[in-house]
Amino acid sequence: AAPLPEVRKLGGRIGAVLTGVRLGGDLAPETVAAVRAAILEHKVVFFRDQGHLDEDSHEAFAQVLGTPVAHPTVPSADGRYALGIDSDHGARANQWHTDVTFVPAYPAFSILRAVTIPPYGGNTLWANTATAYTGLPEPLRVLADSLRAVHSNDYDYAALRPDALPEALAQYREVFTAVKFRTEHPVVRVHPETGERNLLLGNFVQKIAGLTGQDSRVLFDLFQSHIERPENTVRWQWQVGDVAIWDNRATQHYGTDDSDDHVRTLRRVTVDGDVPVGPDG
Ligand code: SIN
Repeated sequence: AAPLPEVRKLGGRIGAVLTGVRLGGDLAPETVAAVRAAILEHKVVFFRDQGHLDEDSHEAFAQVLGTPVAHPTVPSADGRYALGIDSDHGARANQWHTDVTFVPAYPAFSILRAVTIPPYGGNTLWANTATAYTGLPEPLRVLADSLRAVHSNDYDYAALRPDALPEALAQYREVFTAVKFRTEHPVVRVHPETGERNLLLGNFVQKIAGLTGQDSRVLFDLFQSHIERPENTVRWQWQVGDVAIWDNRATQHYGTDDSDDHVRTLRRVTVDGDVPVGPDG
């Protein structure tokens, strides 16, 4: 029989560790179905000891979840889909965000693999945007249902390390902002697979549509604060060979920048998603 993962929840609202599966492009359909169901239920799942994965098998595994997509602004190395998140290139992801929400059909899943992990720090946190929505008092849910927001890549990896060399900073900023995207999404996304309502916000939001900058900021902070509540999050302490897979339609995440000058290298492959649909269709 095909191996089915054992699932151990990490908290009441989000996160589970899956054991008993060796990730790759050759998983049996029953195993893939069980992993996929666990991702949809727990929003982010973690696997230890997947050090056998390399660039090829990471991408091959991504293909069992969907079609890998290149990052829209970062040129891919050697035609690969994997995005390097390398501290020594100045990359920091210490803002709460959902990946690539500045394009219309942003990725459905992200698969992140730990290559080099610092001796301390560099944990990543994820938040459940579905429970953030259901936890709102009813009047705020009604308000959120009626809003739309403009997302832009101006802030993609905008929080660069202050100690990065000026040339590296200029180069990095140019790569991430050379092409400008501005995309309007509903603030509440009805999940295409689970039917759950999710708050769709995060660091790429430039403005809530139709409001003044000040009103927009106040409302953004109000809804975003419900996403970031500690009870609504899970925090993962990486080991080399770990893999995290998240439902990018139902989460935000945050990479902590607290490893001083130690090297931290992760590889992320995303698979394609569809255009968000709001409560009104
Ligand atoms: C990411 O935003 O995908 C990377 C998160 C991290 O660096 O921990």
